[in-house]
Amino acid sequence: MREAIGVVRGVAMSEGAGVRIARLLGTQQLQAFDPFVMLDHFDSDDAADYLAGFPDHPHRGFETVTYMLEGRMRHADNRGHSGVIGTGGVQWMRAGRGIVHSEMPEQEEGRMRGFQLWVNLPARLKMSEPGYQEFPAERLGRETREDGVAVVVVAGATSRGTAGPVAAPHVDARYLDVVLPPGARLEEPVPSDHAAMLAVYEGSIAVGSGGEVGALSLVALGPGDRVVARAGGGGARFLLLAGRPIGEPVAWGGPFVMNTREEVMQAFDDYRAGRF
Ligand code: CO
Repeated sequence: MREAIGVVRGVAMSEGAGVRIARLLGTQQLQAFDPFVMLDHFDSDDAADYLAGFPDHPHRGFETVTYMLEGRMRHADNRGHSGVIGTGGVQWMRAGRGIVHSEMPEQEEGRMRGFQLWVNLPARLKMSEPGYQEFPAERLGRETREDGVAVVVVAGATSRGTAGPVAAPHVDARYLDVVLPPGARLEEPVPSDHAAMLAVYEGSIAVGSGGEVGALSLVALGPGDRVVARAGGGGARFLLLAGRPIGEPVAWGGPFVMNTREEVMQAFDDYRAGRF
């Protein structure tokens, strides 16, 4: 059974043109959790917190995963790709060798809530062709278990065979969104060669044999072959994120995630020279 080896509270910060987010991974407390680089949670029903959005900005060397729990976000890039990610939808974007994109709210009021995860790419794929996997809510996997436990599967598959639409074979990613009624328990095998973490965003859970962890927290899990979590009295919602570590040096500079400092500088040069 995997135990919590670290619990990190979300750090409030401003991203893009002034969007209020809570960073769960990618801070001083927990800089990266191979193969994951960053995890942000956004949640506000005050449009002033999100209206400014994320205007044009570049990425290289990794994948961004936007999962909208609530709200609508319009996406457009410099290769002519655009679309809207709606409530419950996911966009898994490979930035690869370079993309310039914007992510702007497609609403002027109401709640906007979701996650952006950065999944690293191994050196052999950092300069690969950019691409997208995009799916609306109805295409995601859905599993109902005993005691009212519900699991939405974005990527990978559960131990009971419910598969998500996203394929991320380079890290064999699993991206599950779990709802636990009060006192209910999730037990889910996760291969022992995977790194696994939980992002608690509603209520609280007890992880493994440990004490309760409340929202908004990231729980880094230690070694083992299964994840066990039990909801507190108010129930819980959390993400279970797992993937095979890449095991390479990580050089993260602004919107670029490469293997070396020199490659990050090269990315800045290429972006400024219009080579994305
Ligand atoms: Co972006």
